[in-house]
Amino acid sequence: MIAIVGGTGPEGSGLAWRWARAGEQIVIGSRNAARAQGAATQIAEKAGVLGSVEGLENSQAVKMCDIVVLTVPFAGQAELLKQLKPSFRPGTVLIDATVPLAAAVGGRPTRMLGVWQGSAAEQAAEIVGKNVTVAAAFHSLSATVLDGDHDIDCDVIICTDDDRARTLASELALKIPGVRAIDGGKLENARIVESITALLITLNIRHKVHSSGLRITGLGI
Ligand SMILES: NC(=O)c1ccc[n+]([C@@H]2O[C@H](COP(=O)([O-])OP(=O)(O)OC[C@H]3O[C@@H](n4cnc5c(N)ncnc54)[C@H](OP(=O)(O)O)[C@@H]3O)[C@@H](O)[C@H]2O)c1
Repeated sequence: MIAIVGGTGPEGSGLAWRWARAGEQIVIGSRNAARAQGAATQIAEKAGVLGSVEGLENSQAVKMCDIVVLTVPFAGQAELLKQLKPSFRPGTVLIDATVPLAAAVGGRPTRMLGVWQGSAAEQAAEIVGKNVTVAAAFHSLSATVLDGDHDIDCDVIICTDDDRARTLASELALKIPGVRAIDGGKLENARIVESITALLITLNIRHKVHSSGLRITGLGI
């Protein structure tokens, strides 16, 4: 089962619907259980898989699952993870899609905030501690594209220091038709990958789309 903390938002809901359609059991997490249940019902109906998506308050969702995907704004990431820390099962893989955009503090969505730890994902790893392993992934997948019904022309770069986390994140990426999972090396590379999203937002604005993505060439995969 996969918990999606912040799964009521467009990014988490988009991932949830793609994975539910691929046959995964999903638990949508929210600060508000009723909101989580509402989003879960909508996602299950869209995916045609009633019963495979449920909604719970974030800490309850995290307690139920060995894989947790985090899709909340950077402004709320640290405080939320501190609250959730006691709820993580030992050995949980936390897959963080957070992008520290300056928009989180009233700045531009095309600019990045400096994060003391280097990236949002490294901040997450510092907060959750050694019982939880962190992978950074899914930053390049636009919520608009996830929400659609087509194969997605985009690579997902996965950064982590843990082989099991890399494998699980890759498997989830590959469950989204069209997506390729790319080993992006250590968790410290998340600072580079997260910043690509700010560039994609610039490209969306300049080209008047909501769908720019990323393809890496020349890897022979
Ligand atoms: N949108 C995209 O296309 C996209 C693409 C790549 C990466 N991302 C990243 O993915 C993350 C989520 O994006 P999004 O567009 O889905 O964001 P969002 O709609 O702003 O937020 C997602 C959910 O997070 C929860 N949340 C909001 N503020 C919070 C706070 N202060 N503390 C705890 N929870 C809070 C809310 O759920 P509840 O109120 O139900 O708790 C909300 O529905 C962001 O870090 C973003 O940079 C987004």
